[in-house]
Amino acid sequence: MTLSPGDEDLIRVASLARQRAYAPYSGYKVGAAIRTRRNKIHSGANVENASYGLTVCAERCAAFAAVAAGETRDWDAIAIVIDDLQLPSPCGACRQVLVEFSPGLRVILGTVGGLRRATTLAELLPDPFLPAALRSPDP
Ligand code: THU
Repeated sequence: MTLSPGDEDLIRVASLARQRAYAPYSGYKVGAAIRTRRNKIHSGANVENASYGLTVCAERCAAFAAVAAGETRDWDAIAIVIDDLQLPSPCGACRQVLVEFSPGLRVILGTVGGLRRATTLAELLPDPFLPAALRSPDP
């Protein structure tokens, strides 16, 4: 599929971040980049640890970078890039972290080889558990 030039830019930032992944145990390097509606970009890569369970995914790394920069809402899109024959799919934990900050997030998936897919967090995580401030009132 063809993405907008802005989404291709975000894929490029995620690809650069991917090169900084620390994945000596799995060898599976992932890059992610989040663009806010104010047009700021925050990127991240997966960071593994000899104590395997401490690993943090690229998507959460990017999300936490955005939050640490003071951006806790109105994220427009996240791009996620891997070097594989098939597209990435963010894990359940990362979907839940992302929905806390931007349930309307667009999700742009890409491979280094050029595969692309645009989807939404709402599609990837239907009926999410939301923070109280974002929950709809009881009927
Ligand atoms: N990983 C991510 O960074 N994002 C995902 O969406 C799935 C998995 C990382 C965690 C670990 O470092 C490696 O990929 C293999 O699971």
